[in-house]
Amino acid sequence: MGKELNKEFYDSVFEYGGSEEMYFKDYKETSWFPVWSKIIDIISDGNFKNVLDIGCGPGQFANQLIDTLPEIKYTGLDFSYIAIDQAIKRVPTFNFIVADALKFDFSSLEYDVVVSTEFLEHVIQDKSILKSLKSGVLILATLPNMDSEGHVRFLSKDVDTAKSEILNHYGDICEILEISYHHYENTEDNGDFLIKMVLK
Ligand SMILES: C[S@@+](CC[C@H](N)C(=O)[O-])C[C@H]1O[C@@H](n2cnc3c(N)ncnc32)[C@H](O)[C@@H]1O
Repeated sequence: MGKELNKEFYDSVFEYGGSEEMYFKDYKETSWFPVWSKIIDIISDGNFKNVLDIGCGPGQFANQLIDTLPEIKYTGLDFSYIAIDQAIKRVPTFNFIVADALKFDFSSLEYDVVVSTEFLEHVIQDKSILKSLKSGVLILATLPNMDSEGHVRFLSKDVDTAKSEILNHYGDICEILEISYHHYENTEDNGDFLIKMVLK
C-alpha cells in the first residue's frame, strides 16, 4: 500500500513521463484506451454536453474525448501544474484548472457528468470530494486493481470481491448503477474497474 502524495511528487512524474513514459504516449497507445472508449460511449449515448474531469492528469483522456466528440464542453482539474501544462498543449480549446480537489469549490463550475480516471485511489478523503459535487450527477470513475506508491487503497484481484469492495466503499454516498472490469492487454491480472454511479 502506498500513501497520499503531494503535487510536487506528481509534477516530477509528469516531467519524466511516468513508468515507460506512459504519460507521453498518444491515448491510443495507453492501456486505458479501451476503458476510456467505454466512458466516451456512455457520455455520447447519454447525450451529456459538459464533462468535469477530476484529477485529469496530462490530458490524454481529454484528447481522446475531443477527437471523438468535438462539440463537447470539458473542464479538467488537477493539482499538478506540469500535468495541466501538458494537458493544455494536447487540447488548447478545453478548460483546465490547477487546483487541489480537496479544497476546490465545484459549485463554481457547470457540468452534467463527472469523469475521474485513476484518481480516487490516490486520495484518502476521496468521498468528501464526491460529496462536494451536485447530487444526482452521474459519475464515471475508474479504479485499478494494483498497488502503487501513490495508492491509498487498491482492489482485490478477484473481480467479484473487488466489486463488493467498491460497493462497500461508495455505496453509502452513491447509487452504484454498474461496475465493469476491463483487463489490460499483455498483463496477467491487472485491469481497471469502471464504476457508473450517481451521487445520492
Ligand atoms: C494516476 S494520475 C491519473 C491521471 C489521469 N486521470 C489518467 O487517468 O491518466 C492521478 C492524478 O491525480 C492528481 N491528484 C492527486 N491528488 C490530487 C488532489 N488532491 N487534487 C487534484 N489532483 C490530484 C495527480 O496530480 C495526478 O494527475
